[in-house]
Amino acid sequence: MRVLVIGGGRNSEHEVSLASAAAVSEALRATDHDVRTVTIGRDGVWDAAPDASPAGSLAAAMPLLAWADVVFPAVHGALGEDGALAALCALADVPVVGSGPRAGAIGMDKHATKLVARDAGIATAPGFVISSSAIGDVEFEAPVVVKPVSAGSSYGVSLVREPGELLEALRTAARFDDRILIEEVMQGREIDVAVIREAGGVRWAAPPLEIHAAGLFDTAMKYDGSARFTVPAALTAAETGMLSRAAVTMFDALGCAGVARMDFFLADAGPVLNEVNTMPGLTAASQAPRMFAAAGVSYPELMDRLVRAAVS
Ligand code: DAL
Ligand code: MG
Repeated sequence: MRVLVIGGGRNSEHEVSLASAAAVSEALRATDHDVRTVTIGRDGVWDAAPDASPAGSLAAAMPLLAWADVVFPAVHGALGEDGALAALCALADVPVVGSGPRAGAIGMDKHATKLVARDAGIATAPGFVISSSAIGDVEFEAPVVVKPVSAGSSYGVSLVREPGELLEALRTAARFDDRILIEEVMQGREIDVAVIREAGGVRWAAPPLEIHAAGLFDTAMKYDGSARFTVPAALTAAETGMLSRAAVTMFDALGCAGVARMDFFLADAGPVLNEVNTMPGLTAASQAPRMFAAAGVSYPELMDRLVRAAVS
Protein backbone atom coordinates (compact mmCIF):
# COMPACT_ATOMS: atom_id res chain seq x y z
CA MET A 1 0.00 0.00 0.00
CA ARG A 2 1.00 3.62 -0.41
CA VAL A 3 1.58 4.84 3.14
CA LEU A 4 2.30 8.43 4.12
CA VAL A 5 4.09 8.49 7.46
CA ILE A 6 3.93 11.81 9.30
CA GLY A 7 6.49 12.55 12.02
CA GLY A 8 7.72 15.43 14.14
CA GLY A 9 5.03 17.82 15.26
CA ARG A 10 4.56 21.14 16.89
CA ASN A 11 4.90 20.21 20.54
CA SER A 12 7.27 19.08 23.27
CA GLU A 13 7.28 15.47 22.02
CA HIS A 14 8.70 16.46 18.60
CA GLU A 15 11.90 14.42 18.95
CA VAL A 16 10.05 11.35 20.23
CA SER A 17 7.74 11.55 17.23
CA LEU A 18 10.72 11.73 14.85
CA ALA A 19 12.05 8.49 16.35
CA SER A 20 8.65 6.80 16.10
CA ALA A 21 8.12 7.92 12.50
CA ALA A 22 11.59 6.76 11.42
CA ALA A 23 11.04 3.31 12.91
CA VAL A 24 7.52 3.01 11.46
CA SER A 25 8.75 4.04 7.98
CA GLU A 26 11.61 1.55 8.02
CA ALA A 27 9.36 -1.30 9.15
CA LEU A 28 6.71 -0.57 6.54
CA ARG A 29 9.31 -0.40 3.78
CA ALA A 30 10.59 -3.78 4.97
CA THR A 31 7.06 -5.19 4.61
CA ASP A 32 6.84 -4.00 1.00
CA HIS A 33 4.75 -0.89 1.43
CA ASP A 34 5.43 2.17 -0.69
CA VAL A 35 6.31 4.70 1.98
CA ARG A 36 6.69 8.46 1.78
CA THR A 37 7.30 10.74 4.72
CA VAL A 38 6.42 14.21 5.89
CA THR A 39 8.01 15.91 8.86
CA ILE A 40 6.20 18.66 10.72
CA GLY A 41 8.75 21.07 12.16
CA ARG A 42 8.65 22.53 15.64
CA ASP A 43 7.60 25.74 13.93
CA GLY A 44 4.68 23.99 12.25
CA VAL A 45 6.32 23.94 8.82
CA TRP A 46 5.58 20.77 6.84
CA ASP A 47 8.61 19.35 5.10
CA ALA A 48 7.69 16.83 2.44
CA ALA A 49 11.04 16.97 0.66
CA PRO A 50 12.14 15.28 -1.48
CA ASP A 51 8.64 14.19 -2.42
CA ALA A 52 6.95 17.53 -2.82
CA SER A 53 8.18 20.89 -3.88
CA PRO A 54 8.22 23.49 -2.59
CA ALA A 55 8.35 22.05 0.89
CA GLY A 56 7.32 24.19 3.79
CA SER A 57 3.58 24.20 3.92
CA LEU A 58 0.65 21.97 4.58
CA ALA A 59 -0.57 22.92 1.09
CA ALA A 60 2.62 21.49 -0.40
CA ALA A 61 2.00 18.24 1.44
CA MET A 62 -1.62 17.95 0.32
CA PRO A 63 -0.76 16.08 -2.92
CA LEU A 64 0.86 13.42 -0.76
CA LEU A 65 -2.35 13.04 1.24
CA ALA A 66 -4.15 12.51 -2.07
CA TRP A 67 -1.43 10.02 -3.14
CA ALA A 68 -1.71 7.90 0.00
CA ASP A 69 -3.89 4.85 0.48
CA VAL A 70 -3.43 5.37 4.19
CA VAL A 71 -1.78 7.92 6.47
CA PHE A 72 0.25 6.87 9.52
CA PRO A 73 0.41 9.90 11.81
CA ALA A 74 3.27 8.94 14.14
CA VAL A 75 2.96 12.24 15.96
CA HIS A 76 2.61 12.25 19.74
CA GLY A 77 1.00 15.06 21.69
CA ALA A 78 -0.75 18.26 20.63
CA LEU A 79 -1.73 18.82 16.99
CA GLY A 80 -1.16 15.14 16.28
CA GLU A 81 -2.18 12.48 18.77
CA ASP A 82 -4.91 14.81 20.05
CA GLY A 83 -6.99 14.08 16.97
CA ALA A 84 -5.82 16.98 14.82
CA LEU A 85 -4.12 14.81 12.19
CA ALA A 86 -6.93 12.25 12.25
CA ALA A 87 -9.35 15.12 11.60
CA LEU A 88 -7.25 16.35 8.69
CA CYS A 89 -7.29 12.86 7.19
CA ALA A 90 -11.04 12.57 7.75
CA LEU A 91 -11.56 15.85 5.90
CA ALA A 92 -9.28 14.66 3.09
CA ASP A 93 -11.13 11.31 3.05
CA VAL A 94 -7.95 9.26 3.54
CA PRO A 95 -7.87 6.28 5.93
CA VAL A 96 -5.70 6.92 8.96
CA VAL A 97 -3.86 4.59 11.31
CA GLY A 98 -5.02 4.86 14.90
CA SER A 99 -7.83 6.59 16.68
CA GLY A 100 -10.18 9.12 15.17
CA PRO A 101 -10.46 12.75 16.24
CA ARG A 102 -12.80 12.13 19.18
CA ALA A 103 -10.81 9.39 20.91
CA GLY A 104 -7.58 11.28 20.23
CA ALA A 105 -8.93 14.49 21.73
CA ILE A 106 -10.41 12.85 24.82
CA GLY A 107 -7.37 10.62 25.35
CA MET A 108 -5.05 13.61 25.20
CA ASP A 109 -7.06 15.36 27.91
CA LYS A 110 -6.19 13.72 31.20
CA HIS A 111 -9.22 15.22 32.94
CA ALA A 112 -11.72 14.13 30.27
CA THR A 113 -10.10 10.67 30.30
CA LYS A 114 -10.76 10.42 34.04
CA LEU A 115 -14.42 11.25 33.55
CA VAL A 116 -14.80 8.55 30.91
CA ALA A 117 -12.88 6.05 33.05
CA ARG A 118 -14.99 6.68 36.12
CA ASP A 119 -18.16 6.26 34.12
CA ALA A 120 -16.80 2.95 32.81
CA GLY A 121 -16.09 1.78 36.37
CA ILE A 122 -12.31 2.19 36.15
CA ALA A 123 -10.55 3.84 39.07
CA THR A 124 -8.36 6.92 38.59
CA ALA A 125 -6.30 8.98 41.04
CA PRO A 126 -8.41 11.47 43.02
CA GLY A 127 -7.62 14.98 41.86
CA PHE A 128 -8.91 18.25 40.52
CA VAL A 129 -8.22 20.74 37.74
CA ILE A 130 -7.30 24.38 38.06
CA SER A 131 -6.72 27.12 35.54
CA SER A 132 -3.13 28.28 35.11
CA SER A 133 -4.41 31.74 35.97
CA ALA A 134 -5.25 30.47 39.49
CA ILE A 135 -1.91 28.96 40.47
CA GLY A 136 -1.32 31.60 43.13
CA ASP A 137 -4.50 30.54 44.95
CA VAL A 138 -3.70 26.84 45.46
CA GLU A 139 -2.57 25.39 48.76
CA PHE A 140 -1.94 21.73 49.35
CA GLU A 141 -0.34 19.95 52.27
CA ALA A 142 -0.10 16.30 51.23
CA PRO A 143 2.27 15.02 48.53
CA VAL A 144 0.69 15.48 45.11
CA VAL A 145 1.50 15.03 41.44
CA VAL A 146 1.09 18.16 39.34
CA LYS A 147 0.68 17.79 35.58
CA PRO A 148 -0.53 19.66 32.52
CA VAL A 149 -3.96 18.34 31.52
CA SER A 150 -2.74 17.84 27.96
CA ALA A 151 0.88 16.87 27.39
CA GLY A 152 2.87 13.70 26.92
CA SER A 153 6.12 11.95 27.81
CA SER A 154 5.77 13.45 31.32
CA TYR A 155 6.73 16.94 30.16
CA GLY A 156 5.69 19.42 32.82
CA VAL A 157 4.95 16.73 35.42
CA SER A 158 6.28 17.15 38.99
CA LEU A 159 6.06 15.16 42.18
CA VAL A 160 5.49 17.63 45.01
CA ARG A 161 6.61 16.31 48.39
CA GLU A 162 6.72 19.56 50.35
CA PRO A 163 4.17 22.40 50.26
CA GLY A 164 7.04 24.77 49.38
CA GLU A 165 7.58 22.96 46.08
CA LEU A 166 4.00 23.45 44.91
CA LEU A 167 4.23 26.87 43.23
CA GLU A 168 7.23 25.93 41.10
CA ALA A 169 5.49 22.70 40.05
CA LEU A 170 2.37 24.62 39.04
CA ARG A 171 4.42 27.11 37.04
CA THR A 172 6.21 24.26 35.28
CA ALA A 173 2.93 22.59 34.33
CA ALA A 174 1.54 25.95 33.16
CA ARG A 175 4.28 26.15 30.53
CA PHE A 176 2.58 23.22 28.75
CA ASP A 177 -1.13 23.85 29.23
CA ASP A 178 -3.51 26.41 30.65
CA ARG A 179 -5.24 23.67 32.65
CA ILE A 180 -3.38 21.89 35.43
CA LEU A 181 -4.23 18.63 37.14
CA ILE A 182 -3.38 18.12 40.80
CA GLU A 183 -3.60 14.49 41.85
CA GLU A 184 -3.01 12.34 44.88
CA VAL A 185 0.15 10.28 44.63
CA MET A 186 -0.80 6.71 43.74
CA GLN A 187 0.95 3.80 45.38
CA GLY A 188 1.36 0.67 43.32
CA ARG A 189 3.30 -1.02 40.58
CA GLU A 190 3.42 0.84 37.25
CA ILE A 191 1.90 -1.42 34.61
CA ASP A 192 1.17 -0.57 30.96
CA VAL A 193 -1.26 -2.46 28.76
CA ALA A 194 -1.36 -2.08 24.98
CA VAL A 195 -4.55 -2.80 23.06
CA ILE A 196 -4.87 -3.24 19.30
CA ARG A 197 -7.93 -3.18 17.08
CA GLU A 198 -7.18 -5.26 14.04
CA ALA A 199 -8.72 -5.46 10.60
CA GLY A 200 -12.22 -6.86 11.09
CA GLY A 201 -12.62 -5.09 14.42
CA VAL A 202 -11.22 -7.71 16.78
CA ARG A 203 -9.33 -6.02 19.61
CA TRP A 204 -7.13 -7.59 22.21
CA ALA A 205 -4.67 -6.65 24.94
CA ALA A 206 -1.03 -7.67 24.76
CA PRO A 207 0.72 -9.07 27.86
CA PRO A 208 1.20 -6.22 30.38
CA LEU A 209 4.57 -4.52 30.88
CA GLU A 210 5.95 -3.36 34.22
CA ILE A 211 8.05 -0.22 34.55
CA HIS A 212 10.69 -0.24 37.24
CA ALA A 213 11.36 3.34 38.22
CA ALA A 214 12.68 4.65 41.51
CA GLY A 215 10.20 7.48 42.06
CA LEU A 216 8.60 9.26 39.13
CA PHE A 217 8.95 7.67 35.66
CA ASP A 218 9.86 11.10 34.29
CA THR A 219 10.84 12.49 30.90
CA ALA A 220 14.58 11.94 31.45
CA MET A 221 14.11 8.33 32.48
CA LYS A 222 11.75 7.72 29.56
CA TYR A 223 14.43 8.56 27.02
CA ASP A 224 17.88 8.23 28.62
CA GLY A 225 17.80 4.46 28.44
CA SER A 226 17.76 3.96 32.22
CA ALA A 227 14.18 2.71 32.47
CA ARG A 228 13.84 -1.00 33.06
CA PHE A 229 10.83 -2.86 31.75
CA THR A 230 9.66 -6.38 32.45
CA VAL A 231 7.41 -7.91 29.82
CA PRO A 232 5.39 -9.88 30.41
CA ALA A 233 5.10 -8.37 33.88
CA ALA A 234 5.19 -10.84 36.75
CA LEU A 235 1.47 -10.85 37.55
CA THR A 236 -1.06 -13.42 38.63
CA ALA A 237 -3.58 -14.54 36.04
CA ALA A 238 -6.22 -12.64 38.00
CA GLU A 239 -4.17 -9.42 37.94
CA THR A 240 -3.48 -9.76 34.22
CA GLY A 241 -7.16 -10.37 33.63
CA MET A 242 -8.22 -7.29 35.61
CA LEU A 243 -5.69 -5.05 33.86
CA SER A 244 -6.49 -6.36 30.40
CA ARG A 245 -10.23 -6.01 30.92
CA ALA A 246 -9.79 -2.45 32.20
CA ALA A 247 -7.58 -1.57 29.21
CA VAL A 248 -10.01 -2.97 26.65
CA THR A 249 -12.95 -1.34 28.44
CA MET A 250 -11.18 2.00 28.24
CA PHE A 251 -10.26 1.44 24.59
CA ASP A 252 -13.92 0.79 23.81
CA ALA A 253 -15.24 3.59 26.01
CA LEU A 254 -13.10 6.11 24.15
CA GLY A 255 -13.80 4.48 20.80
CA CYS A 256 -10.12 3.97 20.04
CA ALA A 257 -8.75 2.37 16.90
CA GLY A 258 -5.32 1.12 15.87
CA VAL A 259 -3.15 0.78 18.93
CA ALA A 260 -3.47 2.52 22.29
CA ARG A 261 -1.48 2.11 25.47
CA MET A 262 -3.24 2.38 28.82
CA ASP A 263 -0.96 3.15 31.76
CA PHE A 264 -2.01 1.89 35.19
CA PHE A 265 -0.89 1.74 38.78
CA LEU A 266 -1.64 -1.64 40.23
CA ALA A 267 -2.76 -0.71 43.74
CA ASP A 268 -3.86 -3.09 46.50
CA ALA A 269 -7.49 -2.47 45.55
CA GLY A 270 -6.86 -3.11 41.83
CA PRO A 271 -5.89 -1.18 38.69
CA VAL A 272 -5.92 2.63 38.77
CA LEU A 273 -5.77 4.23 35.33
CA ASN A 274 -3.06 6.88 35.09
CA GLU A 275 -3.36 7.86 31.44
CA VAL A 276 -4.17 6.83 27.90
CA ASN A 277 -1.91 7.19 24.86
CA THR A 278 -3.77 6.93 21.58
CA MET A 279 -0.51 7.22 19.61
CA PRO A 280 1.99 5.62 22.00
CA GLY A 281 5.74 5.64 21.41
CA LEU A 282 6.35 3.38 18.42
CA THR A 283 10.04 2.65 18.20
CA ALA A 284 10.82 -1.05 18.48
CA ALA A 285 12.13 -0.34 22.00
CA SER A 286 8.97 1.51 23.10
CA GLN A 287 6.55 -0.14 25.51
CA ALA A 288 3.66 -0.99 23.16
CA PRO A 289 5.79 -2.74 20.49
CA ARG A 290 7.59 -4.65 23.25
CA MET A 291 4.27 -5.90 24.58
CA PHE A 292 3.16 -7.10 21.16
CA ALA A 293 6.54 -8.75 20.63
CA ALA A 294 5.86 -10.68 23.84
CA ALA A 295 2.61 -11.81 22.23
CA GLY A 296 4.52 -13.08 19.20
CA VAL A 297 3.80 -10.10 16.92
CA SER A 298 7.08 -8.70 15.61
CA TYR A 299 7.58 -4.98 15.14
CA PRO A 300 7.24 -5.00 11.31
CA GLU A 301 4.22 -7.31 11.60
CA LEU A 302 2.61 -4.92 14.09
CA MET A 303 3.08 -1.96 11.76
CA ASP A 304 1.70 -3.95 8.83
CA ARG A 305 -1.36 -4.96 10.87
CA LEU A 306 -1.99 -1.35 11.88
CA VAL A 307 -1.95 -0.21 8.26
CA ARG A 308 -4.26 -3.04 7.21
CA ALA A 309 -6.64 -2.29 10.07
CA ALA A 310 -6.87 1.34 8.98
CA VAL A 311 -8.15 0.44 5.52
CA SER A 312 -10.45 -2.41 6.57
N1 DAL B 1 3.75 9.92 24.91
C1 DAL B 1 4.77 8.94 24.62
C2 DAL B 1 5.20 8.98 23.21
C3 DAL B 1 4.30 7.58 24.99
O1 DAL B 1 3.31 7.49 25.64
O2 DAL B 1 4.91 6.60 24.61
MG1 MG C 1 1.46 9.96 27.21
